[in-house]
Amino acid sequence: MAAAARRDPGAPGGEKRIMCVGLVCLDIISVVKAFPTEDSDTRCVSQRWQRGGNASNSCTVLALLGAPCAFMGSLATGHAADFITADFQRRGVDVTHVAWQPCGDVPCACCIVSAASGSRTIVLYDTNLPDVTARDFERVDLSQYKWIHWEARNAEEQAAMIRRVERHNRARPAAERVRISVEVEKPREELLPLLGLGHVVFISKDLAQHFGYRSAPEALRGLHDRVQPGATLICAWAEEGADAVGPSGELVHSDAFPPETLVDTLGAGDTFNAAVIFALSAGRSLQDALTFGCQVAGKKCGIQGYDGIV
Ligand code: ADP
Ligand code: FRU
Repeated sequence: MAAAARRDPGAPGGEKRIMCVGLVCLDIISVVKAFPTEDSDTRCVSQRWQRGGNASNSCTVLALLGAPCAFMGSLATGHAADFITADFQRRGVDVTHVAWQPCGDVPCACCIVSAASGSRTIVLYDTNLPDVTARDFERVDLSQYKWIHWEARNAEEQAAMIRRVERHNRARPAAERVRISVEVEKPREELLPLLGLGHVVFISKDLAQHFGYRSAPEALRGLHDRVQPGATLICAWAEEGADAVGPSGELVHSDAFPPETLVDTLGAGDTFNAAVIFALSAGRSLQDALTFGCQVAGKKCGIQGYDGIV
């Protein structure tokens, strides 16, 4: 696509946007009464296609919360991409900076959501579609954004993108700076340097457990020295809610807000991240943001998909 066609269109009313950089995929979701036995042949209760991927799901939630937002990630033309772009459009998520790759497959996940427990089991095919690069990111007009969030994937390129934002920030007054957040979810060695970048760092229960921590506060204590001074480190822990350590070392906790019935936990973490970013970007306190994140994520766990979370 020509560079001119990619120019950031600007949010309605001149409000600055939030951008999420990371994965978009097609989720083919089967809702089952109870999790099936291996090598069995059963019917599901319902089945749907849903746009998925952490950064993409967080955009859905930001849009539902009323924040102008944009997604940046890779796609390749075809049926899956048609479905995905139509869905982004339906939600009002800007896709100007999607990188259309000439080869590779759109990632696709088979997801089993158990109606009995709300659990989600994901098998993701995500092998050959190149990720967006620092070069792609150069086309982003940073003055249009107040917050950019990265889902850790191709860490070296993403670090270069973040350094570009840091350079941009250094040359500007506080009110014009872009806030930077990073989510490190997968326990992969090459992603860990990203913990040291960004103003707000989200780590997953998965990552924490990989390091041997048994609770969010334990993980925060153990990993806090990996984030840059003054950064906030946040760790969500399913039904135990979430904990965080703020810029001056203060510890903050929110209990979870469990729904009456746990229905669908697919994307609970992405919902939590989006709601926390939404609240922090509006100037709310870390405690408020954590509580809001758990409230919105809890609500999400009580419904299929995202409609009805606000
Ligand atoms: P994921 O596994 O999707 O990354 P988590 O399990 O860490 O996400 O959950 C993120 C947030 O979602 C939690 O902080 C909590 O607020 C909410 N949540 C997730 N699972 C539950 C649950 N079983 N009951 C209540 N809240 C939940
Ligand atoms: C949920 C999710 C799904 C996707 C998978 C990718 O957090 O983003 O939408 O299939 O995780 O890891």
